[in-house]
Amino acid sequence: SQRSLVLLKPDAVRRGLIGEIIGRIERKAGWAITALELRTLDQDTLEQHYGEHKGKPFYEPLMGFMQSGPVVALVVEGERVIEGLRTLAGPTDPIAAAPGSIRGDFGTIVRENLIHASDSEESATRELKIFFPGLV
Ligand code: GTP
Ligand code: MG
Repeated sequence: SQRSLVLLKPDAVRRGLIGEIIGRIERKAGWAITALELRTLDQDTLEQHYGEHKGKPFYEPLMGFMQSGPVVALVVEGERVIEGLRTLAGPTDPIAAAPGSIRGDFGTIVRENLIHASDSEESATRELKIFFPGLV
C-alpha cells in the first residue's frame, strides 16, 4: 500500500471543516490515518514543502495564507491513497472542481482550497520527511 501527506489548510480549520474532511477520508474502505497533528507552520517548513513554486506570482500569498492559522497534518495509508486523495480533493481551482469533491463542495478561491495531498510517490516521500521526520 501507499502513504500520502495531507494538510487541512488554515481555511478548513477556521471554517470548522476538520471533521467533515477527515470523515470523508475515514470512510474510504481500507484507508487509515496513521499520524495526525494540529500545528502552525513556519516559513522554513513551507519553503521546503512548496519550493517547486518559488518565484511564481502566487507563491508569496500562498506562503502567507499557509501561516495564517494552524493546519492539520496527517498521514493516510492504504490502497492507492495518493491518486485517491487527489480525486477526493478535486482539482486546484475549486470552481473547476466537481461537486462531491472536497474543493468542489466547499471552496471558491484558488488559494483557499482547503486541502493539500501529495501528488506522486516521490512527492509523498519528500513531504512525509518534512512533516513527520520520525516516521519509519
Ligand atoms: P497543493 O495540494 O496545495 O499542492 O495544491 P495542488 O497540488 O492542487 O496545486 P499546486 O501544487 O499547483 O499549487 C499549490 C497551491 O498554490 C494551490 O493549492 C493553490 O492554493 C496555489 N495556487 C496554485 N496555482 C495557483 C494560481 O494560479 N493562482 C493562485 N492564486 N494560487 C495558486
Ligand atoms: Mg501541489
